[in-house]
Amino acid sequence: MAVFKLNDRVFYVGAIHNERRVFDQLIPLPDGTTYNAYVIRGSDKTALIDTVDPEKREDLFKNLEELGVEKIDYVIANHAEQDHSGSIPFVLERYPMAKVVTNEKCKNFLKDLLHLREEDFITISDGEELSLGDRTLKFVFTPWVHWPETMVTFLEEDGILFSCDFFGSHLARTIPFIEEDPRVIEDAKRYYAEIMMPFRPTVRRNVDKVKALNPMIIAPSHGPVYKKPEIIINAYLDWTSENVKNQVVLPYVSMHGSTKVMVDYLIDRLTENGIEVFPFDLSVTDIGKLAMTLVDSATLILATPQFLGGAHPLAVYAAFLVNVLRPKLKYIGLVGSFGWGGMMVEQIKGLVSNIKAELIEPVLIKGLPDAESIRSLDSLVENVIKKHGEAGLL
Ligand code: FEO
Repeated sequence: MAVFKLNDRVFYVGAIHNERRVFDQLIPLPDGTTYNAYVIRGSDKTALIDTVDPEKREDLFKNLEELGVEKIDYVIANHAEQDHSGSIPFVLERYPMAKVVTNEKCKNFLKDLLHLREEDFITISDGEELSLGDRTLKFVFTPWVHWPETMVTFLEEDGILFSCDFFGSHLARTIPFIEEDPRVIEDAKRYYAEIMMPFRPTVRRNVDKVKALNPMIIAPSHGPVYKKPEIIINAYLDWTSENVKNQVVLPYVSMHGSTKVMVDYLIDRLTENGIEVFPFDLSVTDIGKLAMTLVDSATLILATPQFLGGAHPLAVYAAFLVNVLRPKLKYIGLVGSFGWGGMMVEQIKGLVSNIKAELIEPVLIKGLPDAESIRSLDSLVENVIKKHGEAGLL
């Protein structure tokens, strides 16, 4: 990635990681990612906003060299996670006069994670400003827009909000700016679902907090820079709202086809009643797509065969993910096929204890459903239609 100019004083110096395919050894990255860092040249001081994953630090240094940055006064650490902070020790080595500017919590994380020293830091408080001469940075704490220490930095004179993970997307682009692009919002939704959704109420409060700054540009630390901030702010306002859609997300696993017969029946009956269904075969699905669909679905129905006395491990994994991602589901159902007794219902109920959704009566069918036994799913379908109707979704 080359250097890109946001304006005469602000430059993109980050790194593209087009070939990266997994984050946290868990999250699929079908579109790669970027680690965005920015240089701000004030009349007196120069600041670097965040760094890059240490694996890509040479890209950062190449960009700093290309830009002719001989002195960095401040390295602003908006977030301690290593994909942004991991190159700070290398930056301090190359620019020994630089100080890391961050909040108390982030400072402590950076000491733990990177073994930085107390004397490396300038500690700031919420709302504090830092002058670069004719440019001013304002620090606004936004806890839990990923970790407890997360904050954003606002360049007041230019109206640029450096939001780090907040509003980001895992999307590698060689030109890091967008005005309007549904693809970016799609990837930002995936990012929200995987990273931000567990903290939805807090994220909502922080959206309101940064919206009040009235940014002209939002420059996150993953994915493209938003030249029209209202696009991503409005998307976040929708995702973090209480609104759900008239849709059922249906993750399923079927070993010998019996549960799949139930899944197909559910899809047909719900669809013919005007409810959109999003089935996910858990043996092959991209969990990011499942997470995205959970952002605004009203109902989850998990479909699993019985496996060694409980649900299939893939269904257990899906239930665990739903529980930690904490989507705003209103209703949860469980269906499946079994051969003999088991504890599937109790197990899944226990796994989704974080979710404040109403549990719809489960339907379990012995063996391969036939024309008669499959009708036992009708009560569940009627229940979903009734609930969606009562919620004003139909
Ligand atoms: Fe992109 Fe929470 O780090």
